[in-house]
Amino acid sequence: MKAPAPEVNAEFRVRVPVRWRKEVERILITEDQIAQRIQAMSRGIERDFTGREMVVVSLLNGTVMFLADLIRNLSLPLRLDFIGVSSYGAGTESGDLVFTKELRLDVRGRDVLLVDDILDTGKTLYRVLGKLRALKPRRIKTCVLLNKAARRVEAVEADYVGFEIPDYFVVGYGLDFAERYRNLPFVGVLYPHVYKQVSQQLIPARPKRAGRRRAD
Ligand code: PRP
Repeated sequence: MKAPAPEVNAEFRVRVPVRWRKEVERILITEDQIAQRIQAMSRGIERDFTGREMVVVSLLNGTVMFLADLIRNLSLPLRLDFIGVSSYGAGTESGDLVFTKELRLDVRGRDVLLVDDILDTGKTLYRVLGKLRALKPRRIKTCVLLNKAARRVEAVEADYVGFEIPDYFVVGYGLDFAERYRNLPFVGVLYPHVYKQVSQQLIPARPKRAGRRRAD
């Protein structure tokens, strides 16, 4: 039976590095915790995929750090491709998905590992899974670093989950707020005034996904 993903302790307190202290209110998951968890997840993926070449399909842009660390830990032959998908495009409303890059590799009859950074409402994974299944792979397994079950709208779950997180708008380790903060090496939460400031700077262009990863 699959071991449950660790839950993030919202009370967990780690010192925020000085250079981020004005913006980051708290660190939810440290670099070390992420690294250890990715190693454990990788062993599980290797067990399930051994013996066959896999195709890793990663969703842009948020997976950039997670993917790089995950595949470095996978001692299996694999091919890598990307699907570009975003919840906002020019003139679209919240929740509308825009595909910015299509898959190029042929996945028919292949074993696919679909990688995303966060499973939130589930709309993204649901849509992408529909697209992928139409390409007739042999099987698809899904892998996410973060699972926020509280906001699920679509009935979709991931096969491999790094961490269960509470309903916070999280940034870092690839995850953005209005395209910023992807470069933080940890997963954290910004101060409320930062979310407000950035939103105001962006008016009239709406911040991408403001509110999607935090309690509304
Ligand atoms: C984020 C994230 C997931 C998706 C999850 O993508 O990377 O793909 O939201 O949310 P959902 O479960 O509610 O669909 P976003 O559209 O913000 O694009 P990004 O990866 O470029 O940040």
